[in-house]
Amino acid sequence: MFTMGDLFGAGLHTMSSGISSFFLAMAMNPVAQKRAQAEIDLVCSNSQRLPGFADRSALPYVEALVREVLRWGAITPLGLPHRFTEDETYKGLMIQKNMHVFANIGAISFDPESYPEPEVFRPERYLGANPQPDPRKFVFGYGRRLCPGNALAEQTMFIVIASTLATFDICAREGEQYGIARTDGVIAHNKPFHVDIIVRSPVAKDLILAV
Ligand code: HEM
Repeated sequence: MFTMGDLFGAGLHTMSSGISSFFLAMAMNPVAQKRAQAEIDLVCSNSQRLPGFADRSALPYVEALVREVLRWGAITPLGLPHRFTEDETYKGLMIQKNMHVFANIGAISFDPESYPEPEVFRPERYLGANPQPDPRKFVFGYGRRLCPGNALAEQTMFIVIASTLATFDICAREGEQYGIARTDGVIAHNKPFHVDIIVRSPVAKDLILAV
């Protein structure tokens, strides 16, 4: 019972936080949204069908957009605490057995040396000859306690993002002020915001109704 409960607890709020960041990022970045939609339209015969996992390798921009949501969304800014099982020295710091440490995933995600202008949502970071570090290497934590849901999480993010972009336009609402404003806590959530979500075409509407 606890094993199943843990999966829901750890999976539900992390995913809803990430998907909310995706909607926020799209409202704030119409150019990135249009570029991702153009890529999906090309691969899915002008979005006559929904994208699937088999299309993933043909959608490099959408792939980069998923990575940028994971970084920019900083879903678990401090990860979970790890406890030292023995005394350790790290970069001159003495860490005693039984001490707890947090890896500052939020700071790594927004480190301007790795990610210039870190507050800007920019999928292009992961494309081209000199891509910036893949956030999947740290957003899911480290070592033996690495998030066991990481593959499920990033595949779900991909399919939700690709299907949403194929069928809907996410538009900024007039008069709404957008920016990064998140709650504190183990899992950070966006403060409430509004966007307009509009079906892209009659074909998109049929696809949604068919699903
Ligand atoms: C984008 C979504 C997610 C993010 C960013 C995320 C992130 C994390 C992080 C940072 C940890 C701590 C790892 C560490 O101690 O170093 C963790 C642990 C965990 N995650 Fe996730 N997670 C996500 C989705 C999920 C999903 C979908 C599930 C389950 C279906 C899940 C299940 C768990 C569990 C059970 C743990 C505890 C593992 C342990 O302590 O051994 N997570 N996650």
